Amino acid sequence: MNDEIHHAEEFLDRIEQDDTPAGSDLEYFLAASNQSIIERLYSRADSARKRHIGNGIYLRGLIEFSSFCRNRCLYCGLNRNNTSLARYRMTSEEILKAVDSVASCRISTVVLQSGEDDSLDHIWMRDLISEIRNRHNMAVTLSLGEWEYQAYALWKEAGANRYLLKIETTDRDLYDRLHPGMSHQNRLRCLRDLRSLGYEVGSGIIVGLRGQTVASLCRDIQFFKEENLDMIGIGPFISHPSTELCKESSGDAEMTLRVLALTRIVTKTTNIPATTAIASLDGDFRSQALKCGANVLMPIFTPVLHKSSYEIYPDRSCTNEEGVQYAECLFRLAESLNRHIDYSKGDRKK
Ligand code: 5AD
Repeated sequence: MNDEIHHAEEFLDRIEQDDTPAGSDLEYFLAASNQSIIERLYSRADSARKRHIGNGIYLRGLIEFSSFCRNRCLYCGLNRNNTSLARYRMTSEEILKAVDSVASCRISTVVLQSGEDDSLDHIWMRDLISEIRNRHNMAVTLSLGEWEYQAYALWKEAGANRYLLKIETTDRDLYDRLHPGMSHQNRLRCLRDLRSLGYEVGSGIIVGLRGQTVASLCRDIQFFKEENLDMIGIGPFISHPSTELCKESSGDAEMTLRVLALTRIVTKTTNIPATTAIASLDGDFRSQALKCGANVLMPIFTPVLHKSSYEIYPDRSCTNEEGVQYAECLFRLAESLNRHIDYSKGDRKK
């Protein structure tokens, strides 16, 4: 083994052992230009995934039930200033039908996601959650954005199990520039409220935002560890033509994979998806992500009728496929990698 690779292995040992890894150790890999070092990183992340989680891949059926949003996140196609987008809001009946479809594929987690819809009726949401829990033996994950403690408590009480809320970036200045009218502090408040209510909590970041530094990506990885998150979504920035960031180039897939791999090594047992965002970049990045730490896939069960209107970013993969076909395509992907689908609910391994 040459000196450089030997060095890299030592750094990886340290990153694996430390409670919170040093920023400089993480930075070494994000800044590395030697491809053999990156190969070592990916391979160590893959072994960590195998050791802590095994070869099973969990599936989460995603239903994007409303595209209305009160926010103006500069990167997101759902931002309220985007008047070119046809907005929709699914009824309970439509949502329950989509949930049945998720269940018909033996998938035992449903993720209910929407924009931050000002008209979201908290009681309606509560009733929907308890209806799903009554009908199916399924975990319910919510991804509805920032709300007050009382709302989170109401939904938890109704049977919701998990909540996803990305921090997007831990760099406060960058966060403020990208999220007019929002506050980083409130986002953290939400994550901590969710934790204290007993949800499994997921967060994550966008990689490749202009102004984001390697040092801040290292902070993000430390943050995942410090907050003891259960689920972590890491996706590249994808430039959307109807947003203020339309002229910027999309995030780099390779950098996204490096962050993912380090996150696996650092956080050990967390559930990490091969995100739809990375799958929508040109190249076989969904498989790549599964080979360097990811253990979750999220087939989209939003009815095709609405799917193209939920345009967070353009060219989302499989927009013309119904959930059942989408799930089948992911089963085949798992098989092709010699992994199997694990049909259990897939709570974070303790
Ligand atoms: N590129 C990549 N990810 C995006 N998201 C929103 N817009 C974009 C984009 N243009 C992600 C955010 C949000 C999640 C629902 O989608 O991380 O939390």
